[in-house]
Amino acid sequence: MTNRKNSTLRLNEVLDQSYHLLQQEMFKEGYTHLVSQLDKLTRDLPQSTIDTTIREECLQHPLAKVFLQEPITKHSYQKPRGYSGDAVLIDYLYGLKAYPASISYVGRELHHQLSNAGSSRAVRWRVHHIASLISSASEKANQKIDIFSVASGHLRELAYLEDAESKINRLVCLDQDDQCNEEVRANYNHHAFLEIIDQSINHVLKRKMEGQAFNLVYSTGLFDYLNDKVASRMLEILYGNLKPGGTMIIPNFLKGIPEKAYMETFMKWNLIYRDEEDMVRLCAPLNLPVHKIKLYRDPMERVVYLKIEKPRS
Ligand SMILES: C[S@@+](CC[C@H](N)C(=O)[O-])C[C@H]1O[C@@H](n2cnc3c(N)ncnc32)[C@H](O)[C@@H]1O
Repeated sequence: MTNRKNSTLRLNEVLDQSYHLLQQEMFKEGYTHLVSQLDKLTRDLPQSTIDTTIREECLQHPLAKVFLQEPITKHSYQKPRGYSGDAVLIDYLYGLKAYPASISYVGRELHHQLSNAGSSRAVRWRVHHIASLISSASEKANQKIDIFSVASGHLRELAYLEDAESKINRLVCLDQDDQCNEEVRANYNHHAFLEIIDQSINHVLKRKMEGQAFNLVYSTGLFDYLNDKVASRMLEILYGNLKPGGTMIIPNFLKGIPEKAYMETFMKWNLIYRDEEDMVRLCAPLNLPVHKIKLYRDPMERVVYLKIEKPRS
């Protein structure tokens, strides 16, 4: 009980300190102090406490009104599409969506801080990485390739890919969000290689993609929402969609990232974080020798990438 009281006292102290720094227009200091101290305070707490007591304390503090002027935080908190991390929010992280002209000075300054956070940079790195993987997969195959993008969002990787027509034979993208798919159609309909499936991942889970084979299968920003059982099942089925020699790439936000507590409190954005061991465990149904399962991290150490290459024979 005393411990709980102490941690509430300490939390209020941190919120007050951050508020004070922002009042003095010390935006970087106010943001980094909040993120790092929230992380420190919540590391050993049960998830249920973070999602209730800690979140309530944060949102009741005057600091919440300040941070909710920041467009990424506000979008995640309000969840206009019913969940955090929709493709519109991701566009903010990519720097492709401008903040509203009516934004306050404080909101704009905090937006600058959030946009440069490690996790935001990791999301930008991810989209460029996928574009470069498409290029290298087509180079390796020495021909135009077939690709399956699961939970494709706005398919922004296509914008970062040079001369897509010479690299892609078929690009099948699946997303449950009709508005995302409309945006993809509006931007990329001139590409004859594009096939859009307006479906949730149940389409995959119900084996509706059976018999289709791809050189590259990837899914960015999805597995962090899937529980282990569904994630494993997806991996097993998607592996079946690889051509011999094909590659599957699955990123997942890493356990222990410092932005986690800020996201879970002020943004009400909960992800399922995983590390390398967790990713290997998800692969159990594939029955692959461990050396066939490759793992790497981005330079920001925010996302772990699972890479599986299907043997040629
Ligand atoms: C974080 S966004 C990532 C979008 C895109 N892949 C990217 O990296 O920019 C997550 C996407 O997953 C989609 N999504 C979430 N759950 C899904 C499900 N069960 N079935 C299909 N799509 C889903 C959402 O509609 C959204 O477009």
